[in-house]
Amino acid sequence: MGMAQFLGHSAFYVEGNGIRALIDPFLSGNPQAPEKLPELNPNYIFVTHAHQDHLGDAISVAQKTGATVVATNELAMYLQGKGLNAVGMHVGGRKRFDFGSVKLTAAFHGSCVFEENALACSDTPCGFLIEVDGKKLYHAGDTGLTVEMTLLEEEKVDLALLPIGGHYTMDIMDAVRAVGFIKPQKAVPMHYNTFPPIKADPSEFKRLLDGKADVVILKPGEKINF
Ligand code: NI
Ligand code: MN
Repeated sequence: MGMAQFLGHSAFYVEGNGIRALIDPFLSGNPQAPEKLPELNPNYIFVTHAHQDHLGDAISVAQKTGATVVATNELAMYLQGKGLNAVGMHVGGRKRFDFGSVKLTAAFHGSCVFEENALACSDTPCGFLIEVDGKKLYHAGDTGLTVEMTLLEEEKVDLALLPIGGHYTMDIMDAVRAVGFIKPQKAVPMHYNTFPPIKADPSEFKRLLDGKADVVILKPGEKINF
């Protein structure tokens, strides 16, 4: 059984056999981060794209812990340039790790880093399908609704983490449609209420899926087993 802990916005801590992972570790400056952050000693950090509310503290945490960062190839090269141990994969690619497999999924969004007003890195955003203790976790990253999500049904997703805030990503209506495409065992909403443009009511997401999917609304710091 895997465990996922919500750290606010799109940040999660995931634990299972051989894996202690942070996903999109936006912790400093995250208004939704738990008041008391857990002791973080990840061996992996997954970054869906380079926007600051996702790349977040990845560089400093990886420098401190030596964690391996997994990202799309261009972002991984940028992070290697910062001295990090980074594995570059790409959308549609699956790779076997000691703890299980990881597949990068399509995300319709943007991704770049600016340094001193110049573009330092431009890459393709992604989502992650991560195997934890034989169960599958899908973190959608930032994305609009895509028909590619229909491909995830055959993957038999145990836990889907889906943005619902709208404006930059799927809103509640589209996230409901995404659950219809993916058919996960459990769904957890993310990427809402952090900033005014992405205000959304997660109980509406749960209500619309009543009887069709097990929607669990996590408060920052709360955990779910999958
Ligand atoms: Ni983004
Ligand atoms: Mn975002």
